[in-house]
Amino acid sequence: MNRALGVFATIALLALGACSPMQSAFHPSGEEAERVATLFWIMTAGGTVIFIMVLIATGLAIFGGKVRNTLSSERFVTIMGLVFPIVVLTALLIYGFALMRVGERPAEQHDGLRVEIAGELWWWRVTYFTEDGRVITSANELHVPVGEPVEIALTSTNVIHSFWAPQLAGKLDMIPGRTNTLTVTATKEGISRGQCAEYCGGAHALMAFHVVAHSPEEFRSWLDAEAAPAIAPTGQAAERGAAVFDAAGCGACHAVRGTDARGVIGPDLTHVGSRYSLAAATLPNTAKAFARWIADNQHVKPENKMPSYDILTADQVGDLAIYLEGLE
Ligand code: CUA
Repeated sequence: MNRALGVFATIALLALGACSPMQSAFHPSGEEAERVATLFWIMTAGGTVIFIMVLIATGLAIFGGKVRNTLSSERFVTIMGLVFPIVVLTALLIYGFALMRVGERPAEQHDGLRVEIAGELWWWRVTYFTEDGRVITSANELHVPVGEPVEIALTSTNVIHSFWAPQLAGKLDMIPGRTNTLTVTATKEGISRGQCAEYCGGAHALMAFHVVAHSPEEFRSWLDAEAAPAIAPTGQAAERGAAVFDAAGCGACHAVRGTDARGVIGPDLTHVGSRYSLAAATLPNTAKAFARWIADNQHVKPENKMPSYDILTADQVGDLAIYLEGLE
């Protein structure tokens, strides 16, 4: 009974998991992901047809009477056992290469937007290099303009991670000492989710991110806002929070551009309040979640590199959370 329940729960979970289009290769919103999905459906349909043919042949071999003689003839074995797989697999290989554009060299001079994403333990350092020479540091979110190819340089300075935004493109490893380049073109506006797809230790399962695809105009204004220094705290709680941030030494690891906080160990927090999530898509972006993260992050995301600040009083944590949430 328990086993039946377990099987049912597993099937229900898988089915429900497939319902959410937030992180699904079946809901492509990028040119590369569309090609991956097309190839998947062709392979699945072709595989199903061949599987049914094999089942029929097996049935005939067992119960087929005189037809069995045909099945065991040398001619049938040569055609279906040799010619058929060679023709089908060769055609599929050529089609797959053409569809996935294997061997196609990306344009030597890419003068559009370039993004560098570095895999950290366990979050994403995202740096934008714009056409006009600006370098903008952010974290845990990738923003792209719809319809424009974006070159993403994937790196790591620690262990191997894998960048996977299933709605945008296939996955690509981030390997220390090497730069892998992925060129993506978003086709639809909207938010989707990505995940580190290579086990990288402790908090690997909680190393996720959001992809935000904007219209080109919206993207430029987002980029301008992201490039600007942090806004000054508004309200007494936020001002007290900024003082706590300074006094507790948060700036040793985190940068808030426009203030004395210039740390580069942890994520840049200049506009952390405008992101969709906290701690690499682990928590929602609310003052309550900030407070929980600061005071008790080792329970929220075990082994992450930030210590839990349980030395701060509840009031201090509350002020700090309001300050950080206001950094839009
Ligand atoms: Cu990074 Cu798994």
